[in-house]
Amino acid sequence: MTKTTDQIALNDWYVVAALSNLAAGQIHHTRLLGQNISLKAGHDGRPTCVEIEAGQPARIVEHVAVRYDFVWVCLGQPARHIVDIPEIGAPGRRFIQRGRIGVTTSGPRVIENFFDLSHFSFVHTGTLGGLDVTEVPPYSVDVRENGELWATECSFFQPKASAAADGGIEISYKYRVPRPFISIIYKTSPSRPTDNDIIGLFLQPRDETDSVVHSFGLMWDRDNSDTALLHFFHEVFAQDRSVLIHQLPKRLPLMPRREIPTHSDALSIAYRRWLDKSGLQFGVDRELAETA
Ligand SMILES: [Fe+2]
Repeated sequence: MTKTTDQIALNDWYVVAALSNLAAGQIHHTRLLGQNISLKAGHDGRPTCVEIEAGQPARIVEHVAVRYDFVWVCLGQPARHIVDIPEIGAPGRRFIQRGRIGVTTSGPRVIENFFDLSHFSFVHTGTLGGLDVTEVPPYSVDVRENGELWATECSFFQPKASAAADGGIEISYKYRVPRPFISIIYKTSPSRPTDNDIIGLFLQPRDETDSVVHSFGLMWDRDNSDTALLHFFHEVFAQDRSVLIHQLPKRLPLMPRREIPTHSDALSIAYRRWLDKSGLQFGVDRELAETA
């Protein structure tokens, strides 16, 4: 497909690379919102970005920034600042970038799956859920004054909540959805149960149904190596990925579903309504009602 004309999508910021993966002088080709782009890190460390189209001179992308060691790009006119994540850079937790993973589905499908508590038992059996406890206790969902969507008071029993966990514990969750293609979770840290570990997903929508997941962790874990943390994450995400690539339709339907939703769907329903109100077109389906 070609570059989208969806202004809501174009005027947002997206992570397109981890800065540490851009070697000085080297060019990284990728796509954003249906547009081929090339990134290049200068010798001063500052990346530049151009839009590439066959037979045309490269166009310089004006809005390129580095934040949280990720490279962010806005192909339109930024409607807002890059999302503020105050916990990154605060003392205590370990910050790790968790690489990038391609998934052939829309960004909103990946975000919705990320906060679907009901899939833990069936998709992440033995780690984030167990088959003996599958019920999702009720939780609260609200849209804050700043427009962010939050779910709070979520909890779930997890046999192995992170690489640091050495047994099952009840995990409390909070979900923050500050932008359509960004979600951040706060979950009880097995290393420090009075506090949270934080996991963030930054979706790079290459095309409407093709995405790259960039991700970070902020963990209290002092024992496991980066490799062990990444191994745990990749094992979990491989399970999500195998579900996501088969989910149809790939664009997230925004029309209400026909069957009566259960309370475990509350955040999913709120997310779809919130996307609907945002006016976003890219990666969503405004015609189709999902029946299954
Ligand atoms: Fe999952």
